[in-house]
Amino acid sequence: MNKDKPADITNPFDFVLFGGTGDLSLRKLLPALYFRHCEAQLHGDGRIICVARRDMNTEQFIEFIQQEVIQHIPSEHFKQASWDGFIERIQYLQLDVTTLDGYNVLGEMLSGREQVARVFYLSVAPSLFEPICAKVSEAGLISKSTRVALEKPLGRDRASANEINDQLARVFDESQIFRIDHYLGKETVQNLMALRFGNALFEPLWRREHISDVQITIAESLGVGTRGGFYDQTGALRDMVQNHLLQLLVILSMEPPASSDSDAIRDEKIKVLRALKPLVGLDAVESTVRGQYKAGAYADGPVPGYLENETVPDDSNTETFVAIRAEIESWRWAGVPFYLRTGKHMESKLTEIIINFQKVPHSIYETADGFSTPNQLVIRLQPQESIRMRVYVKAWGDDNQLQPVHLNLDFNDVFKKRQMIAYERLCMDIIKGNQTLFMRRDEVDAAWAWIDPIREAWKTHNVVPKGYTAGTMGPAAANALISREGLKWYED
Ligand code: NDP
Ligand code: BG6
Repeated sequence: MNKDKPADITNPFDFVLFGGTGDLSLRKLLPALYFRHCEAQLHGDGRIICVARRDMNTEQFIEFIQQEVIQHIPSEHFKQASWDGFIERIQYLQLDVTTLDGYNVLGEMLSGREQVARVFYLSVAPSLFEPICAKVSEAGLISKSTRVALEKPLGRDRASANEINDQLARVFDESQIFRIDHYLGKETVQNLMALRFGNALFEPLWRREHISDVQITIAESLGVGTRGGFYDQTGALRDMVQNHLLQLLVILSMEPPASSDSDAIRDEKIKVLRALKPLVGLDAVESTVRGQYKAGAYADGPVPGYLENETVPDDSNTETFVAIRAEIESWRWAGVPFYLRTGKHMESKLTEIIINFQKVPHSIYETADGFSTPNQLVIRLQPQESIRMRVYVKAWGDDNQLQPVHLNLDFNDVFKKRQMIAYERLCMDIIKGNQTLFMRRDEVDAAWAWIDPIREAWKTHNVVPKGYTAGTMGPAAANALISREGLKWYED
């Protein structure tokens, strides 16, 4: 490593962005790279080569992204001088990735730069992963410093994910493969680990003896919008649970890793995935709720139901909401229910983890609520990152009457700076070759191994989604699921 270079700056790189004209590139990836450029964290010798079929030259592409990318950069963070510097890094290559012609042009662009970090970022439909990998290999574009980054979804089930992973393995070594779950790039998700392993306070309590139940909610206020074609083939279980929700569950519940080394962390994560109690057959039916949103309304007006979306078949049975009661079969967690839920067009956009602690074993006090809600840790990841701890205190003036209050930590108040978007951290780590925040092949496999039987059970037992009104927190059956154990979903 260059001694004169601060650790947070990348080495020289070529970042080849396949799908450079696509939605994800324009909304997230190019803004993310722009922000890192603004922070002077991209090496001066770092190029971004955007690849797509559209007939444009670099000049026209830059004109195109002036329109399409800048609108996704909040105006208070846009600096014209930085943008002017950023676009100097960008080149555009028109290429149909399914044909070998054209890869020689890419080869010429990359030639003589075998030593610099070479990233192939595949922001394209998963059906293009295999052709791109095969062709960059055939064209001799893979050097030792090459890494490939793949967007989710990685497969539709365990078998198809394995197929993709086998194809990747023919061309790349596992140490070169970066499987993206953008939730892992969120500051807030990394803070979960920091909270657990940077403080001695929580670890002794982080177990079945002290925690009664855990809830994880990823609620979205948007519907499927123009993505209906993709979404209808996917559904919430594959789109959100197999990856984002399980990743949150795993980070929350894994054993402390021996170090911050990427494999030390991923070794612990996989143990949790493998310890998830399988949900099979009727057990899966009884432990899950499928939902599909119907027409509803928000403060700014009505929204149509899922089946009214033009890109969705009229008789679709795809779920836009899932709730699951999961268990981890380990000494630390045996018997503790983990309730997971996620959905489109829910009341608001909210990602939140609730840890409910056990009630005091013997109370010498009285409380207005009879200690009905015990101590509670509320970790909010989105929209504003905060941590709240609910504790009981004696109310002033009352003799022995306790009341719950909240200890509040709002990260915006503490850090007072722009919160990085997930892809900033992920793009930097790919360029630097740090795999900690990326899913290893065995993790993806273990996650699908848990998800597949749930889908099979839904199919075998003909479980159709229950309707819920857009703008609410999901179908009533999700409340019934949790109330069976005398619990209820946390409400602020
Ligand atoms: P888009 O459909 O918006 O973009 C697809 C891109 O692929 C376009 O740039 C298109 O360019 C290019 N492309 C398609 N066919 C070819 C081809 N034969 N040769 C060269 N380029 C081609 O998709 P998204 O950006 O939405 O998604 C990209 C990936 O990211 C997908 O795997 C998606 O599942 C995943 N993802 C997307 C998210 C999002 O928010 N959008 C969120 C999470 C994951 P052109 O038409 O000019 O050729
Ligand atoms: C994506 C899903 O992975 O995550 C989308 O495909 C979903 O359906 C999105 O909307 C949610 O991400 P975030 O960062 O907005 O919570």
